[in-house]
Amino acid sequence: MMKTWHLGDDRQSLVLASRENRLPEVIYWGPALPDGEALEPLAAAAIMDVTGGMVDENAPISLSPEASWTFPGQTGLTVRDAEGAVLRPNFVFHSEEQSGNQITLTYADVECGLTIIFDLSFTTETSLLRLQTRLQSKNDIIVDWLAAPVLPAPAHTNEMIEFSGRWCSEFQTRRLPFAPGARVRDNRTGRTDHAHFPGLIVCSKATSNTAGEAYAFHYGWSGGHKMVAEELADGRRQVQFGHATSSMAKGKSFETAPLYATFSDSGFNGTAIRFQRHVRTQIVRDARMPRPVHYNCWEAIYFDHKLDDLKSIADRAAELGAERFVLDDGWFGRRDDDTTSLGDWTIDPRKYPNGLTPLIDHVSSLGLEFGIWYEPEMINEDSDLYRTHPEWILGSKDQTRGRQQLVLDMARQDVRDYLFEQMSAVLGAHKIGYVKWDHNRVLPIVDAAQTDGVYELFDRLRVAFPHIEFESCSSGGGRIDFGILERTQRVWLSDSNDALERQRIQHDAALFLPASVTGSHVGPRHCHTSGRVIGMSLRAWTAAQRHMGFEMDPRELTPQEAETLMAVTQWWKANRDWLMSADILRLDAVDPAVIAEIQVAEDGQKFAAFAALTRPSDQILPYPVRLTGLDPQAFYKISLANRDEAHHLSRGAPLLKSQDISVSGQYLMSHGLTLPWRFPETIWVIEGQKVSS
Ligand code: GLA
Repeated sequence: MMKTWHLGDDRQSLVLASRENRLPEVIYWGPALPDGEALEPLAAAAIMDVTGGMVDENAPISLSPEASWTFPGQTGLTVRDAEGAVLRPNFVFHSEEQSGNQITLTYADVECGLTIIFDLSFTTETSLLRLQTRLQSKNDIIVDWLAAPVLPAPAHTNEMIEFSGRWCSEFQTRRLPFAPGARVRDNRTGRTDHAHFPGLIVCSKATSNTAGEAYAFHYGWSGGHKMVAEELADGRRQVQFGHATSSMAKGKSFETAPLYATFSDSGFNGTAIRFQRHVRTQIVRDARMPRPVHYNCWEAIYFDHKLDDLKSIADRAAELGAERFVLDDGWFGRRDDDTTSLGDWTIDPRKYPNGLTPLIDHVSSLGLEFGIWYEPEMINEDSDLYRTHPEWILGSKDQTRGRQQLVLDMARQDVRDYLFEQMSAVLGAHKIGYVKWDHNRVLPIVDAAQTDGVYELFDRLRVAFPHIEFESCSSGGGRIDFGILERTQRVWLSDSNDALERQRIQHDAALFLPASVTGSHVGPRHCHTSGRVIGMSLRAWTAAQRHMGFEMDPRELTPQEAETLMAVTQWWKANRDWLMSADILRLDAVDPAVIAEIQVAEDGQKFAAFAALTRPSDQILPYPVRLTGLDPQAFYKISLANRDEAHHLSRGAPLLKSQDISVSGQYLMSHGLTLPWRFPETIWVIEGQKVSS
């Protein structure tokens, strides 16, 4: 007895089969199968052989591989009864529901009193799978591990790209071979974290940005995830994602976060643009268009808030082109440094004797929206809140502090009510359109209830203040995932405003994130986190590649720097309508010193390409930059947006240095653009406009 199901579109197919009413397994995932392909024969044909040194039947890599079937690898569920005895459920078919590309499959083990439910859906617009597992029990149980629906990784895809990082260097990618055994990431920080972006790309050795097969995964959860990428002794491979081990409390009902996944045969760009589009159109809600240019005062003044300074900074930021002014840390309690006042979300009367209204009025009179910083989940011992409610903290009293602070127990209703009231009092009484929501330490204990509590507070505030946009920050990019992006409209990608570091970070983050949510700021001339001095052109263009903003004290700018920044900001404003919904495609630069990408408009009529030379090249002259994502038959008018930056040491005559050119998409993608020589730590910005096809 065989049951089969299909999800997909004309780009990819995912086929599931269930034999003898056992848990279903993915028997095919890859390029779209032809219409009319019979699925049952595929399921029968996929049954693998048995030989010596193994049990008499291969346990399937089902949506939750079962111990009860002697599965020879990591199981999809590890569960105990309330007394701690291990349960080994043996699930059988209970019911199914399918409507188009949405399937719910329910399986039960009556003896154990357990029901497992798989919600599988496929969004055709973005060609993306969304997979979730739910577990229900008659009695209280302890769930140590519950995987979202488990997917196989095909044998010919023998490598994986996974993500690590640190403060100021988020989204580091690492390409590893599959090998026997499990590659396990179990993030015990309680947040998404800089070091554990919950993503994975399975690919072949030959897969590049522009070509080859890629299977990409993202677990949409902000509380820390576990990933297992395992090669079994029989050669099969599986990929599992779920909450960090043992982060769920004893109970009767459990669910994973959604696992997003997609297959593409057009390289990493193929999967990247699916995620980018999905974030823009399916995940993020109510983002204000056009995306306003930010000004954030953190690196200008830190905790030293003075009304007159802030006003003159706002004046200057407005002249430069800012449209939103974000007052960062330091406005509340008695917050003169980072040892105090988290939890006391009332305006500091010493710094703001007449409240925030004089500053907000001033900022508004300049035509800027006002935004404000919060770190709601945190508490300092030196705070009125701690003195009143020391019992509200998460974890023990003698735990190690992080940035001298403790964490509030967000699972408590009274804690959430307090935060809602404190925040509402300020947000409701002022003209505030934006909140930067920070989270500056790892958690003392890993508990999904903490994340559920945070989500609930976000959701409540969003209902109460629907006009307010939220930004997710966590010492930079410590909380970036689709779970938080369902509640926010922007992420602070990194605390590094060093343009060279930012080039690398935002390039790798584009594997999942569109420009419209990715904050990127022009920092101080002398970078506060790297100590480097980088020219204004590279700093400004780097910010203009994403959601643009400024974060330096604008009064430090020389007239020349201000002129460059204003020009780039004007360029960004003139183009943001299409840039913020463009696809970001990463280019396979031949020169390892170059980081390059192209942003192609939704309608394919325009593009902007950016080629940053991050360090001196080994060879004397620049290699041509090959573009991608264009219509090979169309012709494009190409110009250099920053042609005036050509250096006098560029003595030759590449045509683009002096004039625009008109060439085919085929030429641009096959030969590539010959660019003028230039210094390291600079960037060429190329604009393209389709002229005919
Ligand atoms: C974190 C953020 C910064 C800034 C500070 C304020 O480090 O990442 O952008 O808001 O907190 O304390």
